[in-house]
Amino acid sequence: MATVLDIQRYKDEGRRFAMLTVYDFLSARLLDEAGIPILLVGDSLGMVMLGHPTTLPVTMEDMLHHAKAVARGARQALLVGDMPFMSYQASVEDAVRNAGRFIQEAGMHAVKLEGGGTVVEITRRLVDAGVPVMGHLGLTPQSVHAMGGFKVQGKTDAQAARILADARALEEAGAFSIVLEGMPSKLAAEITHALRIPTIGIGAGPACDGQVLVFHDMLGLTTGKAPKFVKRYANLAEDISRAVNAYADDVRTGNFPGPEHEYSTNGSTPAKDPSEVRYGG
Ligand code: KIV
Repeated sequence: MATVLDIQRYKDEGRRFAMLTVYDFLSARLLDEAGIPILLVGDSLGMVMLGHPTTLPVTMEDMLHHAKAVARGARQALLVGDMPFMSYQASVEDAVRNAGRFIQEAGMHAVKLEGGGTVVEITRRLVDAGVPVMGHLGLTPQSVHAMGGFKVQGKTDAQAARILADARALEEAGAFSIVLEGMPSKLAAEITHALRIPTIGIGAGPACDGQVLVFHDMLGLTTGKAPKFVKRYANLAEDISRAVNAYADDVRTGNFPGPEHEYSTNGSTPAKDPSEVRYGG
């Protein structure tokens, strides 16, 4: 199983690595079998899976529900649970209790928290409690209203200096890695070179030690105009549309089900192949 030590080793050896978001059992199994070393149960599930306009409505219960499913599907990857809005901001006690739930109830190996400033002390306390912490700086979606929208951060010298200082402070507090989201490539490169721990970029250019994308974005499952930083490796929304239309046509024309999909008249036969999936009774 990949551990936080492996992730550090990747940086020490100059090996770039991929992280992906994942929200369900089946996808977790596919990504795990593909050898993706870090799977993030991101609070982006609020937008991707639950249809919210931002990540702000996502609750701990939402996160745990999905994290448990992911843990059932993955064997090799380091699993990171994303602490949702207001699960850690109000107090260190909230943070420790909720991070503990990710580890104890949902089978996650680490948690991710957005922001610097007061989050540095929370990070220190979680690390003291034995919980590996991934930081997250730059465009932090839980602060969408404070930022005045989903805007690239760190464009001014003052902002860039603040983000660099937060990154150093998170490293000093014991974070094992930091996501750098939505910032100029030059700033992400500066942070990556300044830190001993790995950085993981999303919309932060090529210098980061690792990269992360939202699974549904890179597969072309989310529709509409993708953000500039997304590379689509498939167009599954189109494939799904084609497949369900073909199915509906087959049903209309009587081409489905065919003889190969029918059961015989002498009772229902038990599945011969134990991997054959049966739903319900
Ligand atoms: O919630 C999420 O998916 C994330 C990644 C984009 C880093 O935080």
